[in-house]
Amino acid sequence: MLIRRTRPDPVGAITPPEVYLQRRAFLRSAGIATAGAVLAPALACRAESQTPGTGSDPFRSNEEPTPFEDAARYNNFYEFGTDKSDPQRNARNFRTRPWTVSITGEVAKPGNIDLDDLLKPHDIEERIYRLRCVEAWSMVIPWRGIELGKLLKRFEPTSKAKFVAFKTLLDPEQMPGQRRAVLDWPYIEGLRLDEAMHPLTLLATGMYGQDLPNQNGAPLRLVVPWKYGFKSIKSIVEIRLTEEQPATSWNISAPREYGFFSNVNPSVDHPRWSQKRERRIGEFGKRKTLPFNGYAEQVGQLYAGMDLRKHF
Ligand code: MTE
Repeated sequence: MLIRRTRPDPVGAITPPEVYLQRRAFLRSAGIATAGAVLAPALACRAESQTPGTGSDPFRSNEEPTPFEDAARYNNFYEFGTDKSDPQRNARNFRTRPWTVSITGEVAKPGNIDLDDLLKPHDIEERIYRLRCVEAWSMVIPWRGIELGKLLKRFEPTSKAKFVAFKTLLDPEQMPGQRRAVLDWPYIEGLRLDEAMHPLTLLATGMYGQDLPNQNGAPLRLVVPWKYGFKSIKSIVEIRLTEEQPATSWNISAPREYGFFSNVNPSVDHPRWSQKRERRIGEFGKRKTLPFNGYAEQVGQLYAGMDLRKHF
């Protein structure tokens, strides 16, 4: 596939969050300014050193959640446009019911299942995770969803299943971004089976105590908190268990920039910028990025013996 120089990507023309969220950033910086210019460097320093891990409970980060309105208006969802503000506007009328998900491939009990039958209420739980985007910004989001592993077990993966491939809806009529060759549509992603079965890996149906806003991936999206945000595929219609490693959209688009694993790794820079720091949406200053986005204790073992520079 040709890689267009002008191709927008989850990293390319980065609008700094503080520019996009001008008003919020302005208010915040104004707050700092009124507290006195002397305080500013001290606060910047604190932001830099505030890099806690996940706290004692990895399923519920002890950090302050990003304000809902920021998480719902600063989005990457190229099916609805490549600007951060496009998805909120263009996904307004996206139909998320009825919604069928097919679970196929290396499973003993494949099926096409209506979303509302797929999700058993007693499986749904709340999680608070950090989301670290490859563009070097991050958020903290309270999700609602089901552990992907619990769901997959119901379909009985066969002994041949080694990977899980995901696919987003293909519907250019509803998704105007799919009328442009920005990516090879539909958006596809994949995980190794052990990553998919890890208890941190969530299929989210909601956030901040309500159903997912369309722009955040309604009605069903993946959340893999130790990987860069682009692995967290939205509006999923197919989950296929495979023997071979599946192709992924960003790897097809720019293989030297986006690998299959895409674990958050501050010591492996993106070819075009550093991954050492990140800007938390709505905050002033930057903080250090943590290996595996702060989930190293939980997931580091999955990659024991692997060269994570090679398998980026
Ligand atoms: N899923 C689909 N189908 N299409 C996309 O463009 N963008 C990815 C990911 N999932 C994307 C997607 C990227 S680059 C990121 S950072 C996250 O969604 C952003 O999620 P958010 O907009 O809900 O914060």
